[in-house]
Amino acid sequence: MEVEGIRMQLKTYHQDHLLDFWDELTDLEKKELADDISSVDLAETNSYFQRANDSLKNNNKILDHEMSPINSERCGILNQCSEEQLRGYEKKGLREIAEGRVAVVLMAGGQGTRLGVTYPKGMYEVGLPSKKTLFQLQAERIRRLEFIAEETCGKRGGITWYILTSEATDKMTNDFLNHHNYFGLVKENVKTFKQCMIPCYDFDGKILLDAKHKISRAPDGNGGLYRALHQSGMLDDMRKRAIRSIHAHSVDNILIKVADPYFVGYCLDKGADCGVLVVEKTEPTEAVGVVSQVHGLYRVVEYSEIPKTTSELRRADGRLLFNAGNVCNHYFTVDFLVKISECHEKDLDLHLAKKKIPFVDEKGERQVPASPNGIKVEKFVFDVFKYSRNFAAWEVPRDSHFSPLKNSNSVGQDCPATAKRDVLALHKKWLLKAGVTSVMGEVEVSPLRSYMGENLKGLDDVIQGPVVVE
Ligand code: UD1
Repeated sequence: MEVEGIRMQLKTYHQDHLLDFWDELTDLEKKELADDISSVDLAETNSYFQRANDSLKNNNKILDHEMSPINSERCGILNQCSEEQLRGYEKKGLREIAEGRVAVVLMAGGQGTRLGVTYPKGMYEVGLPSKKTLFQLQAERIRRLEFIAEETCGKRGGITWYILTSEATDKMTNDFLNHHNYFGLVKENVKTFKQCMIPCYDFDGKILLDAKHKISRAPDGNGGLYRALHQSGMLDDMRKRAIRSIHAHSVDNILIKVADPYFVGYCLDKGADCGVLVVEKTEPTEAVGVVSQVHGLYRVVEYSEIPKTTSELRRADGRLLFNAGNVCNHYFTVDFLVKISECHEKDLDLHLAKKKIPFVDEKGERQVPASPNGIKVEKFVFDVFKYSRNFAAWEVPRDSHFSPLKNSNSVGQDCPATAKRDVLALHKKWLLKAGVTSVMGEVEVSPLRSYMGENLKGLDDVIQGPVVVE
């Protein structure tokens, strides 16, 4: 067997302990381990550890004077736009959709650990009257928006839905979508693609074994999107379809305005290659990263990185100076994604987390540690901002745009109960604005009926829930 060749190669990178149990393995296991090892780029893997470790040692704290807020000329605020401006952005966004130039990239490779589920978060339903899951709500918003764009522009382009999955979520996501017939979307316009898995290390940079014949790995973070788009052929698919604008967002925001025509239209209007949608951070202590400039380059400064005094600075009108709260909601042109994948993907920042990682010890026994014993490395989707030539930010009201599902109900925040509450509150507002005089109980508006409050005229005066306005 060519094991000696593998051993030599591993030795070069000081990872030959991966073969410690080789003689105990069955032929099938030997093949699995050999394949597993050969799928790792050892030079890159070792450099990941080195880079990640260096940044940990240097404790890259950001200093007050290094930070400045987003340039106000680059930041549109929905609530401060005139009706005419908004109509202009909407028209641009809808035209882009009608021409078939908009795609959605849904980041759904996370494992929902905080929520405490063993299946993809997109399959979760928060208890709305319709019992619709996050995936279904999002798919139906796409359908409705395609219809609105066609109605407005007289042309049907279709929105392609690219879903980033991981080893943990891929099969279940595909089975679920298939089982539900893609929630009425055209099957060819729904595409899943898998992100890569990076080996996990001990504190000395040795790759951990999850079993005697299997390397321990973890998903490469939502910044793994860029490599996965390229490797899976999805970037080529986008180019073949002549797609130009991408709306990329997390799976867990129940209020997400998928392919948001205002956001897309605003970014097009500004000629942006990369954009971010933000909500106002109102409390210095709130645990959201803020979009800002550091040494003149745009980036997200996480709440753990921002100096306390800086986080508390306020403007003359009382709003926080650093108030552009990041909600994992981005705009990219396809050209920008190509540039990232070809020129910058390998240089993306690495973020590391010390974790409890199950491992096989020197006696060959699998241990589940009680305290952190190793390192997981991740890339973050927003770390490409610094490569933008023309960056734009779009601030939107939180109550109509952002209610993330992160935790279980016991936490009482960003949980199923708050997600359901926020959807019903928004829908009630829409209905009252449309002329309904009384909305009682749980009244939900189907995304197939209304995308953002339109098409609700002529309903009964009084609506008594639980009910879904179809
Ligand atoms: C994310 C943002 C944070 C923002 C918050 C708002 C990043 C890195 N952080 O934090 O700045 O304030 O959302 O809700 O974007 N995912 C993958 N693959 C992975 C890891 C995650 O696809 O390997 C997906 C998840 O499924 C999810 C999204 O990325 O849809 C965000 O991931 P999550 O771990 O929930 O990020 P947060 O820590 O909440």
